[in-house]
Amino acid sequence: MTAKRIVVAGGAGYIGSHVCVELLQAGRKALVIDNFANSSPVALDRVREIAGGNVELLRADLADPADAERIVSAVTAFRPDGAIHLAGLKAVGESVAEPVRYYAVNLPATFTLIRALEAAGARLLVFSSSATVYGDLNKSPVDETGALGPTNPYGRTKLFIEEMLRDLARADKRWKICNLRYFNPVGAHASGKIGEDPNGLPNNLFPFIAQVAVGRLPKLKVFGADYPTRDGSGVRDYIHVVDLAAGHVAAIDYLAKEASPGAVEFNLGTGRGVSVFEAIAAFKRASNRDIPFEVTARRDGDIAEIYARPDKAEKLLGWRATRTIENMCADHWRWQSANPNGYRDE
Ligand code: WQD
Repeated sequence: MTAKRIVVAGGAGYIGSHVCVELLQAGRKALVIDNFANSSPVALDRVREIAGGNVELLRADLADPADAERIVSAVTAFRPDGAIHLAGLKAVGESVAEPVRYYAVNLPATFTLIRALEAAGARLLVFSSSATVYGDLNKSPVDETGALGPTNPYGRTKLFIEEMLRDLARADKRWKICNLRYFNPVGAHASGKIGEDPNGLPNNLFPFIAQVAVGRLPKLKVFGADYPTRDGSGVRDYIHVVDLAAGHVAAIDYLAKEASPGAVEFNLGTGRGVSVFEAIAAFKRASNRDIPFEVTARRDGDIAEIYARPDKAEKLLGWRATRTIENMCADHWRWQSANPNGYRDE
């Protein structure tokens, strides 16, 4: 069986729009549910430009009870084979400042999506989890048996949702679930038409560097150069967003063909660590732009180093990240230089 008709919750976002492109190019049909709280309808126009028109849109808020009935009936009418759940709040620092809002959005959005899928008779779900569930408890490379201990409310919402989905799969064997633990998604589709377009000041390293390179921001703050790493700056497993998106199609197809997989977690990373200073140097080479920076104090909640052991995804999903840090920087730069103000340029 192939999963042909997929609901993509949060499908207009950075990861979601890239997932939609991969789904459409794999011959699937998508129903995007998005409230555009942290995304733009323009992204879906660009998805159609890249991969054609097999993507419908339901503008709704999965976390708003007033939208629930409309969502359930639209999902049922779509006759889905499954869903990819990327809808939620995702800024670590913001979650520390506003924890209740993070629980009040990320968990109810999941409840409504599950309810809609059950109403539609579909029980196949790929969930956007995060390496942040590992916290600082494991020596890298981290595999899926790593200890779980998120250090912020955002990461705790991801872990709580993973646990709820494991309970659901135990209670009802018809459910087939993948929890995909993303490491650090960066880069953009090679066309330069879709990419990361954060609201306000970027929280994450790559969009911040890209905005410095394009002249929107004056300089980067390097949050600490005194970590116990090879050059003192933080080390992360940056993964190209197109590799990440392809991992979602592989996960959907794995669930469609497995009889009773239950809930299975996978690390989606490259298996390689890159430091902040190495990322700056790579972006300078790709953009041929200077990236002024100053070293400041460490950011609260940051860990020194984490990168994946991605072997399980290769073994069971037949998926592995192939794009290099140079590809990530070149593609991120092509998007940023073609869209200096993101989708606001439309
Ligand atoms: C990477 C490195 C910083 C910004 C988080 C979430 C994860 C996912 C990605 C949502 C660290 C350093 C950063 C800056 C810097 N979120 N840095 N100056 O914190 O590894 O992961 O974002 O999906 O779930 O946990 O990503 O890009 O913020 O930081 O020096 O202006 O860059 O200290 O070493 P992080 P990041």
